[in-house]
Amino acid sequence: MALSLIGRSLKQSATLRLNETAAILKAKGEPLIHLGGGEPKGKAPLDAITRAAAMLNNAEIRYSPPDGTVEAKQAVIRYTEEFYHVRPEPEQVIISVGAKQALFFAMQAILNPQDEILYPAPYWVSYGEMAKMIGAVGIPVYAEDGGFYPRLKDIELRVSSYTKAIIINSPNNPSGAYYPESFISEIVNFCEKKGIYLIMDDIYHRLLFDGKKPFSVFDFAKKHDNNSKIIVINGVSKLYAMTGLRVGWAVANKQIIEVMTNIQAHTNSAPSPIVQAAAAGALNGIQSGVDSLRLTLENNRNVMYSRLKAFEGVRVTKPDGTFYIFADFSAYEKDSIKLATFLLDKVRVTVVPGVEFGMEGYLRLSYNTTIKDITEGIERIKWALDPNSPNELYIGERKLVRDWV
Ligand SMILES: Cc1ncc(COP(=O)(O)O)c(C=O)c1O
Repeated sequence: MALSLIGRSLKQSATLRLNETAAILKAKGEPLIHLGGGEPKGKAPLDAITRAAAMLNNAEIRYSPPDGTVEAKQAVIRYTEEFYHVRPEPEQVIISVGAKQALFFAMQAILNPQDEILYPAPYWVSYGEMAKMIGAVGIPVYAEDGGFYPRLKDIELRVSSYTKAIIINSPNNPSGAYYPESFISEIVNFCEKKGIYLIMDDIYHRLLFDGKKPFSVFDFAKKHDNNSKIIVINGVSKLYAMTGLRVGWAVANKQIIEVMTNIQAHTNSAPSPIVQAAAAGALNGIQSGVDSLRLTLENNRNVMYSRLKAFEGVRVTKPDGTFYIFADFSAYEKDSIKLATFLLDKVRVTVVPGVEFGMEGYLRLSYNTTIKDITEGIERIKWALDPNSPNELYIGERKLVRDWV
């Protein structure tokens, strides 16, 4: 079939395929443990639900302005003042369908075909595919030491005359690494000097552990005028357990927001005012849900980290935030899709193959689940991989027998 070149070049996600298989197995009543999830388990905040319900009750549901409702934009302005220490004007804010769409529109607003956009590896799966959809080129930057914390030098080495933008996602999906302030400060200075756009994907910014606090990129910026090339992306999905409502935003200079607004106006018009009301409710409401999510995740991180550390052959770095651990399983299997498929097939544990995030031999495990599932999930993985483990394993009533070496 004559499909477009760009359309055909987009990668099918191995993760989605694995998740589909997992969903089928679950529906069949299989004892699945899901360590592949990218969303909080809890409920959306009451403040979000009551605001959305009030709007639904009113039954007058119209188009939103293409840059978002006044209420949602005001909530983002207030949030930005609190967490980023600058107060954007309304023309510097757009509300979008998730952080995902805000990111895509930002890229569409600044990138030309063949432009390059850099991001440290491991990286979130969609950056490269988004770049492709615009005809631009995503360039992963690997830290020289093979770890999760890039240095400016690593980035400088990949910058070329085609480099238009850099994306920084910290704390990072999938590694959980929170880049040091010194690195962010250097990268802000570097981008300002070179005239490169800096996109901060801050979707996990308050899910930090060990007393770490989210910093504001604007604290390091020298340029605060309308020529600033910093674009902050954020949203309610991860912090407020509102993944299904699809609300995110961007804060940037007025010209960028104007172009993004035109793109949004000609594509989805804007997110529904109902979900924007919910987002405003969450942002302006009681924040105890975010704190309790963070505390639960920190405890879960400790449990998963200590179990994996005790797992011979697995190399693991302690995450500073998010709800993921990115662990090196290459001592057992270098092909991460093969390994993830094997674990689902043999012991019914879902994980995400590291190759999707640019690092083969790794698996991403999510600890955004119960302690029981974390401990049992890792026990099952250990049983499946460790040749010294007993020949049999019981999952409830069911007996599994090792028929592989
Ligand atoms: C790093 C990163 N950025 C952006 C997003 C998109 O979030 P949203 O649900 O707001 O579109 C995700 C979601 O998984 C993510 O992990």
